[in-house]
Amino acid sequence: MTMCRAACLATLGGLVAGHGHEHSLLLGADPNPAGLGYEEVPLDLSYDHVPLQVEGKVPSFLNGTLYRGSPGAWPDGWWLDGLIMLNAFKFKDGQVYYSMQWNKDEAYNHTRSQTTGPEPLAEAPVPGGIPHPANSSWPTGVAFHQVAGEIVGSTGVSNLNSFDGDSLAPLEMPFAYGDSIGAPYLSPTHEQTLDGYVLSHLVTGMQKGSGGEPSYIITSIKPGSRSRDVVAKIEHPKESSPFKGLPSFQHMQLATSEFYIMVEAPCYYPSSATHVGNVDWAGWQSDLLASGHVRLVSRASGESTIYPLSYSVFAIHHINAYHDEATNEIVIDTIQTLPSFIPCSLAFKNLKMENYVKDWKSTGHGLSMSKIIRLRVPLDKPGAKIEPKQITTMTGMEFPTIRYDDYNGKPYRFAYGTWMSSGGVPTYDALVKLDVQTGEHVAWKVDGHYPGEPIFVADPSGKEEDDGVVMTNVLDTNKNQTYVLLLDAKSFKQIGSAGPTPHWIPHGFHGRYFDRKLNAPSAPELLVV
Ligand SMILES: [Fe+2]
Repeated sequence: MTMCRAACLATLGGLVAGHGHEHSLLLGADPNPAGLGYEEVPLDLSYDHVPLQVEGKVPSFLNGTLYRGSPGAWPDGWWLDGLIMLNAFKFKDGQVYYSMQWNKDEAYNHTRSQTTGPEPLAEAPVPGGIPHPANSSWPTGVAFHQVAGEIVGSTGVSNLNSFDGDSLAPLEMPFAYGDSIGAPYLSPTHEQTLDGYVLSHLVTGMQKGSGGEPSYIITSIKPGSRSRDVVAKIEHPKESSPFKGLPSFQHMQLATSEFYIMVEAPCYYPSSATHVGNVDWAGWQSDLLASGHVRLVSRASGESTIYPLSYSVFAIHHINAYHDEATNEIVIDTIQTLPSFIPCSLAFKNLKMENYVKDWKSTGHGLSMSKIIRLRVPLDKPGAKIEPKQITTMTGMEFPTIRYDDYNGKPYRFAYGTWMSSGGVPTYDALVKLDVQTGEHVAWKVDGHYPGEPIFVADPSGKEEDDGVVMTNVLDTNKNQTYVLLLDAKSFKQIGSAGPTPHWIPHGFHGRYFDRKLNAPSAPELLVV
């Protein structure tokens, strides 16, 4: 039950597959030009610091590691349930070294031994939790962050896995927090790291056997700590979640120095728990008559203020949020994944591999429809209705990133993302840089090349927000291989590349570049990589 790979629902191409499905049988007959990225990778494969061939320039300030999670085998036939490959690109002295290990969680081990993962328990080990043993290790590696200097991978469950940043070997499965909150719970795949704090929330009481009340529990980890402090517990959030007062599914949250921010759409977790490694994708619930809400939770007092939206905005990935001091508004930039008339309960049923591989024209059409939205939340008018506005008419951007380490939760100008250059391609075939102030964008694209989520790394000698590089892995379907791409972030022109990797890397999820401890107690320390 990697709820969250619902995660990268980003990629929820099939999302809108309901739309256009009528003609998809006719359209889907051609081979998928990006089909290589859905082919299985041997489960016994691994690589350890393989030097890659560098072309062009690798800036000397790159002295860290890009981690990238990608699914490489799909034992249950759902793309977002794939077993996770941990890929690492280590930059040192102008060279690039590639390592890969499978994330050796319960789903991986059971797949290798051809056994089935543990069935749900009759009762959760913690009130409101998931009815599975507290030490269950779900597939993670969909998104990465750090807790007390350790690199952890996450999916849609509070059980994270920590791994060695150099060897990629598992350290703790699951990662042990220093508090008494227990595990496992449903939780967003993403967390927010801001000024050294790590913020997230737990969702309780959603499944048969969970016990406890349907609630949100918002947590914060202080810099350097590995214990979660409870910021707020919100039981039966009826005001923002009209559907039985159930907490809504959120793949991601946002934060500023003042607020924990939730964008609540009428989309709700399945009520049945499945065995470890699987999600009941057909069991999601929705309420088309309900609209969406923004919830601002004070990080100081735990009090919520709720703002209704004029229409529902279902977003998998948000871009950023900040306090606009001039207007006294919280600005939220996000990507509306689904048109408001398509409920997630319908869309999630189309996330099967066959839809990605065979029905790729409908899937690609769905991916190309995402919209980039700005919400302005007036702090002077608590509860006021919010009218979503499009930042740009450009569509089809996903996996949005920013200069995260310095600008998360703060006023910013640039976002980077993968991009569908047209509605006729199977998956993201370009990268895009968006100026969120003007709506202007610039793209990078090479025919037959499919890039992953772009990651910004700052040039320490730079002065401006976009002084640095943007890096990602790219699947080259002309040569059937993968390479790492380096773009100058300002011009968005290629400055270098490294590759090929000894085995291609399938279409992936998220990545992070680490060269320091982001929630260290004081000044950032160098992370040994
Ligand atoms: Fe995600």
